Amino acid sequence: MSVEERPLDELRRLANGYQITQAIHVAATLGIADLVADEPRSSDDLAAETGSDERSLYRLLRALASVGVFHEEAGRRFSSTPLSDHLRRDTPETLYGWAAFAGRPLVWRSWGDLLHSVRTGENAFRHLHGKDIWEYRAHDPVERAMFDQAMTDVTRGINRSLLTAYDFGRFSTVIDVGGGRGALLVALLEAHATMRGVLFDRPEVVEGVADALDTGVAERLRIVGGSFFDEVPGGGDAYLLKAIIHDWEDSEALAILRVCRRAARPGASVLVVDRDLGAPNENPSAKFGDLNMLVMPGGCERTSVEFAALLAAAGFRFVGDTPSSSGWHIFEGVAE
Ligand SMILES: C[S@@+](CC[C@H](N)C(=O)[O-])C[C@H]1O[C@@H](n2cnc3c(N)ncnc32)[C@H](O)[C@@H]1O
Repeated sequence: MSVEERPLDELRRLANGYQITQAIHVAATLGIADLVADEPRSSDDLAAETGSDERSLYRLLRALASVGVFHEEAGRRFSSTPLSDHLRRDTPETLYGWAAFAGRPLVWRSWGDLLHSVRTGENAFRHLHGKDIWEYRAHDPVERAMFDQAMTDVTRGINRSLLTAYDFGRFSTVIDVGGGRGALLVALLEAHATMRGVLFDRPEVVEGVADALDTGVAERLRIVGGSFFDEVPGGGDAYLLKAIIHDWEDSEALAILRVCRRAARPGASVLVVDRDLGAPNENPSAKFGDLNMLVMPGGCERTSVEFAALLAAAGFRFVGDTPSSSGWHIFEGVAE
């Protein structure tokens, strides 16, 4: 019999949400999901393999099993569950990278400064470190690699929903502006045999992508390093910006879109892929994503109306908002 949760209990559970985030982060970092993928393993065994303290690891895993991440069997043994399977590194829709990233001190310190952002309107990360996250990561290869992997995993997890919702096949050359390590662009090229792509991101982010590509699309993919505040490659009939515009406040977002407009010939499309903030009292993933933008990169999530206004101000005619099953939308403009 399920017991109805009182508002007080619900609030306590929400207030303690940080505990689950950190527990998932530790299990991901230790690679537990991979170790229990094929058969149940004892906490003894797992502790030996991960160099952990048995009793503490057992306490971690039984806590996670109580919320459905892993399942506790007799004899302090743990098996996989549908949730823990998404923490495996070798599964196509893995969230390993995001879970490993989200519990890191760099992220926690920014969230720990949320009160400062709310009181002052300032970006917490810049307040703490004196520079924005992109400059910080440019000089910290470990944090950069963690973030790039986190984005790669998040993007791979929603690729299917985007490709189902929207016909990217009508474009011959797609410029992925701020495309990270290519998770979405590679999926587009794999799905459309004649499409060509240009992956554009900061030089340190795209470094080595060509060597890491384990795919047959390499000859249709060009990789360019640079800043989207200066110039983006020309020649595209689609300019794709996934999870880019939400990283920035309006003035910078507009500057990026204007640079894209300068590169795009009339008739070319700009495809802004972001979440729609949604109506009041719903869509927590976008509303909390918005707070993440406040404390980490210093941007914000927006409504469809706000995206339309930004696109129009940058010289694009707003032609549509295509939602996908993952909650991410494709906001499309056409260069006038
Ligand atoms: C939130 S990530 C999105 C990555 C990718 N589009 C995805 O969705 O997986 C934002 C990207 O913007 C890139 N970026 C930040 N500042 C940039 C700049 N000035 N020029 C080019 N890319 C930049 C970052 O390196 C990062 O890859």
